[in-house]
Amino acid sequence: MNPNPKKEVLLQVRDLHVHFGSRRHPFEAVRGVSFDVYRGETFGIVGESGSGKTTIGRTIIRVNPAYSGSIQFHGQEITGRISRQLDREIIEKIQMIFQDPMASLNERAKIAYIVSEGLQGRGLKKEEIDARVSKALQDVGLLPEFASRFPHEFSGGQRQRIGIARALVMNPEFIIADEPISALDVSIRAQVLNLMSQLQKERGLTYLFISHDLSVMRYICDRIAVIHRGKFVEMAPTEALYRHPLHPYTRALLSAIPQPNPLVERNKVLEVYDPQAHHPEQNRAWCDIGDGHYLLGTREEILQAGQTVHGT
Ligand SMILES: Nc1ncnc2c1ncn2[C@@H]1O[C@H](COP(=O)(O)OP(=O)(O)OP(=O)(O)O)[C@@H](O)[C@H]1O
Ligand SMILES: [Mg+2]
Repeated sequence: MNPNPKKEVLLQVRDLHVHFGSRRHPFEAVRGVSFDVYRGETFGIVGESGSGKTTIGRTIIRVNPAYSGSIQFHGQEITGRISRQLDREIIEKIQMIFQDPMASLNERAKIAYIVSEGLQGRGLKKEEIDARVSKALQDVGLLPEFASRFPHEFSGGQRQRIGIARALVMNPEFIIADEPISALDVSIRAQVLNLMSQLQKERGLTYLFISHDLSVMRYICDRIAVIHRGKFVEMAPTEALYRHPLHPYTRALLSAIPQPNPLVERNKVLEVYDPQAHHPEQNRAWCDIGDGHYLLGTREEILQAGQTVHGT
């Protein structure tokens, strides 16, 4: 499945299903999702609210159990029962940054504690923990003195930096960023994105970037998967997805991005995706149409897509 064998697969997800609710009447939040994330890249998952994006992230960090399917990190299975050592390793190497920095920081704890939480209970000396917290705060552009303050003293952008410091302090390889800028003022979104990409370059980090907003993802993602009601409908290298969006749901998401030209914007016709009319599931399979572009489609749709994209 790896289209470029030189690329190293850091995370491999295959046919992942995640269920909530009772065994007899389960709610299938994630329904057979498969993808690879290569070392050093930013892989995006985009889709509307409730489509299962956060659930995929939480299943990777083992907060939600997988119902079936496989998740491998460095080629090691990490779903189901795993050794204590592997569990520890995952907690360290895979970190998650959360959607809402106003809600995700413990208001009653000092920044020093919030940032160091993952380091506690590992037999580290207090001085070492303090030093790592100071370093992490500086790495995200905050003053080490902030360690003794409480979250309410900080702005949204600063709070998200604290969330990033909390992840970085663990020296992770893989960061799941769940809508890291959606709750921030537009004016500070770019700062946080720039910080994330600078850290990625310096440390060779790999990101899984979750968002409902395709306009931001173009600038930061190498590849993007589009999720609809727990199923991937399309996945492609970023430019290919923007140039040749094949699934009607992808096109609907793209048409919702505002255009800079007001004349174009005013006359724009929004594409509406109607799953009823489109029968999203019947006789549709997840197919590789070449060059790393995948589509959930019928046999005819897949053949037609190949022609559109490759002219063959
Ligand atoms: N712990 C849970 N128990 C029951 N249902 C859940 C649970 N967590 C998520 N769900 C349901 O699973 C579906 C997917 O939720 P999820 O949070 O993954 O969506 P999302 O794509 O991250 O949405 P958003 O963009 O709003 O964050 C939703 O219908 C949600 O209500
Ligand atoms: Mg979510």
